[in-house]
Amino acid sequence: MIIVLFPSNSKLRYRFVRLLLLLRNAIIIASEARTAALIGACGSIFNSLGLKLCDERRLSILQSQMTTPSSDIPDSTSRPAAGDERIAIFSDIHSNLPALKAVLKECKKRGIRSYICLGDIVGYGGQPAECLQIIRDLGCPAIIGNHDEAVARGFASEDTNESAVAGIEYSIKQLSDEERQWLGALPESLQKKRASFVHASLMEPTTWCYIFSDADATLSFLYQTTPLCFCGHTHVPRVFVRRGTRQPLLLDERTYSFSPEGSALVNVGSVGQPRNRDPRAQFAIFDPELMQVELVQVEYNVAAACKAILKAGLPENLATRLTVGF
Ligand SMILES: [Fe+2]
Repeated sequence: MIIVLFPSNSKLRYRFVRLLLLLRNAIIIASEARTAALIGACGSIFNSLGLKLCDERRLSILQSQMTTPSSDIPDSTSRPAAGDERIAIFSDIHSNLPALKAVLKECKKRGIRSYICLGDIVGYGGQPAECLQIIRDLGCPAIIGNHDEAVARGFASEDTNESAVAGIEYSIKQLSDEERQWLGALPESLQKKRASFVHASLMEPTTWCYIFSDADATLSFLYQTTPLCFCGHTHVPRVFVRRGTRQPLLLDERTYSFSPEGSALVNVGSVGQPRNRDPRAQFAIFDPELMQVELVQVEYNVAAACKAILKAGLPENLATRLTVGF
């Protein structure tokens, strides 16, 4: 008999689950058994151990999707739902007004009228109130990020680094109580017919897990019931595909074509503090009718963003990192 003790701390628990999932992935690779059956077995084991990794309802949806196409997901020949059109999806603006303006200018140039903000509007940069006002004026759906949550709450969590704390404290001072309440009331995630939207991960969205590897993405996929999911948080644009499902077609160096029967996770990168060594503002354009996603990069006035950071009295490294995109 094996007794497994799960850590009560959520971050330790997350690391522990990652370890179990790595083990599970090794089993999948070594075995020719069906992936859905294995995921089901592992999910049941986790649940029986009291870990709410994947409840029965989500598990049954997951398994049915892996064996037969879901009837509520239209095929590529279906007409788009009313209101469906290209959507600009952006995340991690982090109070960088010049970058946000450059992204919106690019969207206007391309005739895009719909937007979804994946959170972290504030923090780090020098112009949180201006960025927040623009997002509110757009009237677009927005999701809460970890910096938004900290600013709404009035303090940074214990494990936040020094520069991030400075950005959070500055944003708290710059925003009114009403603006902070607005941030705090943002939803954790959003779901549309063909895509889900979340800041960090669909698994416990406000635990703020980082998805850097395929193993990290596996956790979020357990909760994904749409062909696509868009996220941010790492500030690194990337596409992950669920094991055993269709790979996207790369149409050009930055445009992907996804299957409505597939299952993929798209990190849209960061508008205001990219960390992929590309200092340009980054976001994604999603065409739900064609199931295509373009990862976009736009030049912006980095010097103006740095100047705003220094003028606000924020740490110098928050400015210099913008110049190198890391
Ligand atoms: Fe962020």
